[in-house]
This record gives sequence, C-alpha cells and structure tokens, in this order.
Amino acid sequence: MTTHTSSTLAVPQVSAIPRHVAIIMDGNGRWASKRFMPRVAGHSEGLGAVRKIVEECRRIGVEYLTLFAFSSENWRRPPEEVGFLMKLFLKSLKGEVSRLAENDISLRLIGDLSRFDPAIQEMVKYSEEKTANCRGLTFTIAANYGGRWDILQAMRRFVEANPGLKPEQVTEELLQPYFSMAYAPEPDLFIRTGGEQRVSNFLLWQLAYTELYFTDVLWPDFDESELHQAFQWFSQRERRFGRTSAQLASQVMSDVV
Ligand code: IPE
Ligand code: IPE
Ligand code: MG
Repeated sequence: MTTHTSSTLAVPQVSAIPRHVAIIMDGNGRWASKRFMPRVAGHSEGLGAVRKIVEECRRIGVEYLTLFAFSSENWRRPPEEVGFLMKLFLKSLKGEVSRLAENDISLRLIGDLSRFDPAIQEMVKYSEEKTANCRGLTFTIAANYGGRWDILQAMRRFVEANPGLKPEQVTEELLQPYFSMAYAPEPDLFIRTGGEQRVSNFLLWQLAYTELYFTDVLWPDFDESELHQAFQWFSQRERRFGRTSAQLASQVMSDVV
C-alpha cells in the first residue's frame, strides 16, 4: 500500500488544482423545504449534483474526491429519513457503478459499514472490486463515517498489530497506515455547502492543513460553476504549512533560478 507524506512531518507539494477535494454535501433538506417538498426529495435531487461534481473532477484532473454522505451521527434522524437514505444509497450504487467504471473512476467506501444492511455491504464490495483498476479518479464515499471513529479504529488496529510497543515508539508514520483514508494524500481543499461553518466530525485528523471553503449554496444547487469558484478561491490561498510568507517567496525564487 502506498503511504502519503503527512503535512505535519514534511511540507507537501502544492498545485493550483487541488489533488484531493473533500466535500460535506449539506443543505438537501432545506432545498426541499424551500419548495414545500419533503426533506427526502432534497436527497434525491442531491444525487444529480454528485454526478456533476464527480464527472467535473474527473475531467479537470482532480485525483481524489471524497464526499460525506452519511455521518456516524446521522442515525439520530427520524427512522423514515434514515431508511430513505439507505435505499437511495443502494439504488444509486446499482445505477452508477458501470458508468463509474466506463469513466475510469474507482469507488471506495470509508466508514463503519457493519451497521448497514447486508445488501448494501455486498453492493459496496462489488462496486469497489469492479472499479478497483480504474485510475482516472479515486472517488470515496464516507458513509457511517465519523472522524473520531476513524481515529479510534486506527488506534485499536495499531495497538493490536504492535503489542508491547513503548509509548515513545508510537509515531505518526507508524499510525498513518491504519487510517481509513491511508490510500490518499490529505485533502487540499475542503468544501461545505449549505452555509454552516463546521466540520461535523468529518476527516478530523486529515484536515490539519486543508484549506476550508464554505458556501451558502445548498447541495442540490452546487454545480460545475460553483466548483470552479471554489477552485478559484483555492488557487489564491497561500499555503504556508507553518512557514512565513518570506520563506515561500524565497523558495519560489530559488525554483525559478
Ligand atoms: C445533507 O443534507 C445530507 C445528509 C446529511 C445525508 P441535510 O439533510 O443535512 O440537509 P439540511 O442541512 O437539513 O438542509
Ligand atoms: C454533515 O451534515 C454530514 C453529511 C453531510 C453527511 P449534517 O447536516 O449532518 O451536519 P450538522 O448536524 O448540521 O452538523
Ligand atoms: Mg444538514
């Protein structure tokens, strides 16, 4: 398995187009309520935005796209809404997997899938296998995912695999492979639609140096042009990773000469 450099251990390479984009797709319920429709209609509509964003990321050369579809706290919602989301998830996996494979997009799921219906678990396995050799874009869906769950499951598996390790021998490098997104570099750009400015237990460990972009646009209305606005904003950020602006400027100069 390839491991990626940690932003806290080494300064990562940066590029104008983010390599890894992570999105909290929020605002489906409000999109529907505004139209006097049931909340779940917003979830169905949100699927159209997912398609657009996945295909646009593939087209412009984003390497990793991660979408937060269902959090470990979303079980607290009314059972009818949770049930609807589960059905929609299964239906969209079934409907989209061939198209993903045709577009050279590999699908990965992160989160505790053990709580899902066996039919969903089987479909996830099938979809991951069917797209495993695709290289155009790695598309990750976070389902029953929580950043704290991820840190805990990593710690548990790490401790199990390394009995007797002394506390001072525990390092970031040794822990890194146990995170559920160990196959991807840390996100360069985080986007949250729907107006809230919070992380809601998404990728807590991995967002250490990610640029955070918030927009009031509700997820079903988020399209290619909104994505490009976020990229435009991103391209103007100065990613210092703890260094000073002057250090960055002198690095640019030395790259030029
Ligand atoms: C995001 O939209 C989708 C999920 C969390 C599954 P919401 O359903 O949270 O929509 P709002 O925030 O209530 O408008
Ligand atoms: C975050 O949205 C989770 C997903 C988009 C899947 P929520 O709507 O659940 O977040 P909070 O409750 O407003 O923080
Ligand atoms: Mg919400």
